[in-house]
Amino acid sequence: MALLTTKQWKITGTDHDFDGLSFEEAIVPQVGENEVLVKLRAASLNYRDLVILKDKYPFPLKFPVVGGSDGAGEVVKAGPKVSKWKAGDNVVTLFNQGHQYGPLDIAGAHTGLGGVIDGTLRQYAVFNENGLVRAPKNLSHLESCTLSCAALTAWNALFGLKPLKAGESVLVQGTGGVSIFALQFAKAAGAVVIATTSSKEKVEMFKKLGADYVLNYKEDKHWGETARDLTGGQGVDHIVEVGGEGTLEQSLKAIKMEGIISIIGFLGGAKPQSSVIECLTNICTARGLFVGSRAMMEDMVAAIEANDIHPVIDNKVFTLEETKEAYTYMFGIAYTC
Ligand SMILES: NC(=O)c1ccc[n+]([C@@H]2O[C@H](COP(=O)([O-])OP(=O)(O)OC[C@H]3O[C@@H](n4cnc5c(N)ncnc54)[C@H](OP(=O)(O)O)[C@@H]3O)[C@@H](O)[C@H]2O)c1
Repeated sequence: MALLTTKQWKITGTDHDFDGLSFEEAIVPQVGENEVLVKLRAASLNYRDLVILKDKYPFPLKFPVVGGSDGAGEVVKAGPKVSKWKAGDNVVTLFNQGHQYGPLDIAGAHTGLGGVIDGTLRQYAVFNENGLVRAPKNLSHLESCTLSCAALTAWNALFGLKPLKAGESVLVQGTGGVSIFALQFAKAAGAVVIATTSSKEKVEMFKKLGADYVLNYKEDKHWGETARDLTGGQGVDHIVEVGGEGTLEQSLKAIKMEGIISIIGFLGGAKPQSSVIECLTNICTARGLFVGSRAMMEDMVAAIEANDIHPVIDNKVFTLEETKEAYTYMFGIAYTC
């Protein structure tokens, strides 16, 4: 039988910016006993994919590696001991392939797709059966392929440590992937959402998605205090902190006593002025997190179906061959990193 081949984008290193991406054809490995061959139909990029090539990614990496953590497709073949999947099933990839349930450990943190383990920027891939999750029935492949990183991170922030309750308040920062998913999940859970953006044009988009209040973080430098005022002075229950430098200080102004600041990103830089001692003075929890487990992703898929949540997708979609243009496009609309 002829060997199956796949076109794929490999990251060769971090010292050549986006030229560290190389397009090649490779042989697809045989499917092992507990493995599954997937025909990937769609993949999406995250801020993480940009910063890997710019040598600013703080988590484990191993080169060369096929890029991309997020992908959706259908099972083509399942190994003889696979119990979860059969040919034709629609699946999405799990970001940290080894993070199955419960707390993340060191071994699990070294299993990032497109970082340590070959990822989704290819036509075909073989995964362990536990490295996949059923795709939501209400979503297309294009929509499902956005769930592995940004959506699961947002889910973990809101439900991973101290689950959000109806009537509580959530603050999300900027109109990036993590923040938009957090807004959608928070509204579905019955929370009040305060969103920030630097863009006047995006205010309407946030409102259409259900944000109760939208603040412009460029015009209102004290947006943390404004957010607190909007809660009647009590403060916000959950803050999805993606800015780091430039936002953490305001997040600490906005947080409620016993509230949770989920420390997720560093869009504004990784050296904020604020210190952890301010968690004591504000009596709050600041919690670093790294995407989420398969068990959390299964819960998230169920919630996406029950609430018919649809990811917000950019108008511009690229072919696999155009992946380098997709990186450049995303970098152009994203900022400095
Ligand atoms: N810890 C984890 O497991 C994990 C997982 C996923 C992502 N992350 C991190 O989370 C961050 C967000 O990721 P993403 O994929 O959602 O990014 P993204 O989609 O690229 O977010 C882009 C948006 O972020 C907003 N933004 C940019 N600079 C900002 C700043 N200084 N302060 C506040 N908002 C700012 C802008 O919104 P406006 O145009 O509306 O202003 C921009 O459009 C990144 O740092 C990423 O590395 C971490």
